Amino acid sequence: MKTLKEAYKEYFPIGVAVSPEILRKQGVFIAEQFDSITAENEMKFDALEPELGRFEFEEADQMVAFAREHQLKMRGHTLVWHQQIPQSIFEWENGGIISREESLKRMGNHIQRVVDRYKEDVYCWDVLNEVINDGEGYLRDTKWLQVIGEDYMEYAFRFAYEADSKSVLFYNDYNAIVPKKRDKIYELVKGLKAKGVPIHGIGIQGHWNIGDHNAWNLEAALKKFARLDLQIQITELDMSMYAFSDAKTHPELKGPTYEMLKRQEEEYDAVFRLFRRYKDYISGVTFWGVSDDYTWLDNFPVKYRKNWPFLFDEKGEVKAAYSKVINFNK
Ligand code: G3I
Repeated sequence: MKTLKEAYKEYFPIGVAVSPEILRKQGVFIAEQFDSITAENEMKFDALEPELGRFEFEEADQMVAFAREHQLKMRGHTLVWHQQIPQSIFEWENGGIISREESLKRMGNHIQRVVDRYKEDVYCWDVLNEVINDGEGYLRDTKWLQVIGEDYMEYAFRFAYEADSKSVLFYNDYNAIVPKKRDKIYELVKGLKAKGVPIHGIGIQGHWNIGDHNAWNLEAALKKFARLDLQIQITELDMSMYAFSDAKTHPELKGPTYEMLKRQEEEYDAVFRLFRRYKDYISGVTFWGVSDDYTWLDNFPVKYRKNWPFLFDEKGEVKAAYSKVINFNK
């Protein structure tokens, strides 16, 4: 049977989000199946700079070394986000919120240190993550926005570009195919481009579920984003077994039902058909985990509710959805 990366060789690299622990346990398998890795948490602000000016690179370095050793590409995730950042980054030592200038200095310093350190190995960065509101309103009310103002977004890309002018720089978001949010993302990115901001791609995270029929919205989003003449990547793909509105714990389920697996297969089939059709615009498809034994969805949106969102089951064996994804006629 073909591996994922063999099947998609002429299309786009297939990536996966991992941790050092997962690399220790499943490293050989990962290197066989995937072309690229992303650190699920280890390159986020709080992991790399847990306190102002104190950097911890050990875990990220291990992952970069793994990628290098196995000739895998590496995506960088993520430089400017409202989550997983110590609040003290926005505060003076003796309390109180820092000024715009100080905040820009801290953002610039973080980006410079991180992007520069990994510029030989990390080929792209999710520079700006999840700044658009899901509901009404345009920008999410983040600390970065409050302290710096709207141009914090431009600065993030400019700092990243200054640190590595060869890196592919992304805006990355979830619900990116939901029409209302999609259009806001489009306007944001179009506006940044018009200002000459160095932005090269849109990351559609791809946290989807089997309660939705994702293909229609996905195609409309791919069409719309393609007009911006930027790269598109699917950056965090998983296909939850629960509709987002399903907040129940489901203790009765010891494994996925036949119906769930069937729906998941249909959804994976549908979205990969589209990825292939839009291969001229898509420069990567990354899963947000390897196999069903571990996923962040085991704790989201319901804590301790097992989920099975990938192409490989809890034992690392291929699921029916895998065959659908790798067996296709050009
Ligand atoms: O590191 C601590 C550990 O010391 C502590 O004992 C443990 C107890 O809960 O928590 C550990 O931190 C957890 C961290 O993952 C590392 O495992 C956090 O609680 C947990 O909230 C955190 O979750 C991550 C989440 O981002 C945080 O927002 C998920 O693993 C990660 O998959 C998820 O990834 C995000 C992307 O970055 C952006 N897009 C959405 C995606 C899913 O939320």
